[in-house]
Amino acid sequence: MSKNEYTLKYILLGDSKVGKTSLLSIFTNNKMPDRELPTIGVDFGIKQLDLNGKLVKNQVWDSAGRDQFRESAASYCKGVVGIILVYDITNLESFQNLQKWLDIVKNESSIVCKILVGNKNDLEKDRKVTFEQGKKFAKKNGMKFLETSAKENTNVNEIFLTMMKEIIVMKEIIEPKPKLNFLGLNYVIFAGICLILAITFVIYFNFHK
Ligand code: GTP
Repeated sequence: MSKNEYTLKYILLGDSKVGKTSLLSIFTNNKMPDRELPTIGVDFGIKQLDLNGKLVKNQVWDSAGRDQFRESAASYCKGVVGIILVYDITNLESFQNLQKWLDIVKNESSIVCKILVGNKNDLEKDRKVTFEQGKKFAKKNGMKFLETSAKENTNVNEIFLTMMKEIIVMKEIIEPKPKLNFLGLNYVIFAGICLILAITFVIYFNFHK
């Protein structure tokens, strides 16, 4: 894989029926899911995007939100760099349960970025969680924040663009290109070249003494 290619693994977490599968389907297929069946275990989708000349393969895991699957979601979080934590703005309980989802992933060291998503903001008249409440929870937990509507395809791509940008910046900080260099060469390579030249020099002078 070239340095301009990245595979980023994310997981969608949150209560049942908040719209995780719908967000994934909009992102990968540009349409709502054909069937309305609850996710069992885990599912996933892939979408490649170009970000400033870098090819980013986004691998998005969709976990089941039902209680019996909550603990098993942790096992799908291995190697995940981004968490997309979703609640439904018309369902207060899904907002109150956010901390339980965060507790599940708190020991995952691979996580670089977390984003909180308040979905179904097309249902303004049924809203139970204000934008400010969402923003405050996100800030308190060091997360980005967006409200979305999978149904109306509002802000869905922004979730992934926000994550991609943040993760790539972080990855380049965590895995910096070698800084030690001389005339554009890494010091180790430079030292190797010097050593070869020195040996050649010694051999040459021994022959011509
Ligand atoms: P589990 O698989 O049980 O964890 O559920 P989920 O979080 O994947 O939810 P899913 O995507 O299956 O959506 C649940 C219901 O909410 C479906 O009837 C969707 O059509 C509906 N829904 C999803 N997103 C939106 C949205 O943005 N607005 C509205 N009005 N309905 C939505």
